[in-house]
Order: sequence, then structure tokens, then C-alpha cells
Amino acid sequence: MEIIFATNNTHKLDEVRAILGKRIHLKTLRQCGITEEIPEEQPTIEGNALQKARYVHQRTGSDCFADDTGLEVDALNGAPGVHSARYATDGHDFAANRALLLERLHGTTNRRARFRTVIALILDEREYTFEGIVEGHITECEAGEGGFGYDPIFVPEGCTQTFAEMPAEEKNRISHRARAVERLAAFLQGEGILTSE
Ligand code: IMP
Repeated sequence: MEIIFATNNTHKLDEVRAILGKRIHLKTLRQCGITEEIPEEQPTIEGNALQKARYVHQRTGSDCFADDTGLEVDALNGAPGVHSARYATDGHDFAANRALLLERLHGTTNRRARFRTVIALILDEREYTFEGIVEGHITECEAGEGGFGYDPIFVPEGCTQTFAEMPAEEKNRISHRARAVERLAAFLQGEGILTSE
């Protein structure tokens, strides 16, 4: 079984491959000849995940899934949320996004936040969504070299290290994306598409 994962982000691909393993062949956008940026113009994370999956399905006619993630910070009323990728600038400037977030939280004691991922799957022309959430807090300053995006400033609940300080296997075990992918995997297993390991 082969399915398109609508991403060219190698970090995400590694994370998802680590969970789905060899049980399913994941094709990337590049492997499907899709090189342009996929539109993400919806006001919600779920809307963006669906928009990306629909775009790829229309272009390829194949079964596919897409994910969208937002970091929701309580003291900022849920921002950056759906705007996480373009928080500081129009591009995907991870360092600028982190710097702006730390600046906006300067002097704030309530640093509670969560990552929320929604995966939208299109399988046999039907649409499904799967959510994964990890609660945590935003640090005062950056720590760690691993991961990507907001990883150096996010400590998951019950942990002492940021996502960027942890070994990749640990992040992949507890992350928002891992939780959403596990739900996707359980669904595909129920459909008889994915074998149990
Ligand atoms: P995307 O649209 O799913 O790529 O996610 C939007 C933004 O959220 C990205 O540009 C990253 O800054 C951030 N993000 C997504 N997933 C993660 C993660 O696992 N760790 C840290 N930041 C992430």
C-alpha cells in the first residue's frame, strides 16, 4: 500500500515514518512532482489540513494525507495558533517566530501552551481527520539543537527538556504529531490497510 504524505518537510517525514515504519510506503510531494507551495488559507488548523489534502488529491487522484499544526499559547489567547508558520514574517522563519513569541511572553508567568496537530486523510474519496495534542509550557529562552520550528522553546508536560533537547525518538513517542499519526495508524489498521507490527 502506498499513500502520499503532503509534505516536503524532512523532519515531519522522519517523525511519521518512525511511527508508520515499513508498514506503508509514504510518498512525498516531490516524488509526485508537486513542487509549488500548497495553499493554507483557512482560519483553522483542521481547515488547513483538509485544504492541503484536497489540493494533493485533486492533483494526483491518489489517497493522501496532510497535517497542519499550531502552537496555542494561553497568555496570548491561543496565538500563534493557525498562524504559527507565519507569526513573525511572511516566510517560514523559525528563528524569528521563536524570538517574537519569547518577546510577547516577556515577563509573563502563565506560560502554558499546547501543540495541536490535525491530520486530514482522503481515502477512497472519503475525508477523515485525526487530532493529536501535547500540553506543555514555553521556556524563557531557547535550549537544544534538535527538531524544528518552536521545539527549542517548548517543554512538554512531565518533562524537563525542550523538544529540541530530547533525542528524536523521545519526541516522536510523545509529540502532538505522533499522537495524531497513532490515531491515523489505528484507523488504517481497522480498515485492513495497515498490518500490525
Ligand atoms: P505546519 O503548517 O504543520 O508546517 O506547522 C506550522 C508551524 O508550526 C511550522 O512552521 C512550525 O513553526 C510549527 N510546528 C509544526 N510542527 C512542529 C513541531 O513538531 N515542533 C515545533 N514546531 C512545529
